[in-house]
Amino acid sequence: MQRTRTVLVTGGAGGIGRGVAAAFSAAGDTVVIADRDAEGVTRTAKELGVHGLALDITDTAAITRELDALQAEFGPVEVLVNNAGLLTVHGALLDLPGSDLDTILRTNVVGTFLMTQHVARRMVDAGIAGVIVNMSSIGGRQPTPGMGGYESSKAAVDALTRWAAIELAAHNIRVNAVAPGPVLTEMLATGMPEGSPQRRAWEDRIPLKRLAAVDDVAAAAVFLAGESAAHITGTSLPVDGGQLLT
Ligand SMILES: NC(=O)c1ccc[n+]([C@@H]2O[C@H](COP(=O)([O-])OP(=O)(O)OC[C@H]3O[C@@H](n4cnc5c(N)ncnc54)[C@H](O)[C@@H]3O)[C@@H](O)[C@H]2O)c1
Repeated sequence: MQRTRTVLVTGGAGGIGRGVAAAFSAAGDTVVIADRDAEGVTRTAKELGVHGLALDITDTAAITRELDALQAEFGPVEVLVNNAGLLTVHGALLDLPGSDLDTILRTNVVGTFLMTQHVARRMVDAGIAGVIVNMSSIGGRQPTPGMGGYESSKAAVDALTRWAAIELAAHNIRVNAVAPGPVLTEMLATGMPEGSPQRRAWEDRIPLKRLAAVDDVAAAAVFLAGESAAHITGTSLPVDGGQLLT
């Protein structure tokens, strides 16, 4: 059994973040979920029996304030899961307004960068051999028409993962990413019900013929953050049923 760590999961109010938080909590860690959805994060924290924090990952002043408060209560963050992201803003290259791309990049790239920088500074100051796990997407490597804005942000998350990994290795901090294909969150299951043409089209693209479950993704995050992955850094691990093979 692994020793108890302080784990911060961003975007933990629902979807994948909620599953990731539950998995770390089940492993015995002290888990704090952070989300800009203040009501949602309070509700989910209560349901999971973890700690909740209202935080917008694009707001530097709030990040500094909340990380200081968190550290005073739980000690420095030892595992950061950068899961918060926007994934519903889509559009074709010829149509997508530039302002929409700005919005996606601001959250998925700048927000992930800011959280990484501020948590990593505290890990370095405290001399902690910490771990950072980013939530990427195989879309960063394989295009789907209409999703290129989002996919560009995830390609940047993969680059950010390598950037952080190579610079933070000297401090014994590992940085990796999980890169899922489509994941059956509640939102996706509602928007794409079983048997719908859209769901079948995705399943047909996946050699293992099913969309990822939230637990598939959570298990990969827990693995990358754990001792079994002690010699892994700078990678983006596909959890995609083989979709990248096609
Ligand atoms: N669902 C999928 O099919 C899928 C596939 C590959 C990758 N991902 C990635 O997984 C992550 C989670 O996705 P999900 O499907 O659970 O989506 P979701 O929308 O259910 O959850 C995302 C959470 O992030 C929060 N959030 C958004 N912007 C924020 C900000 N600025 N500050 C703080 N919190 C913010 C939202 O409030 C929400 O609770 C995202 O990074 C997404 O890109 C999802």
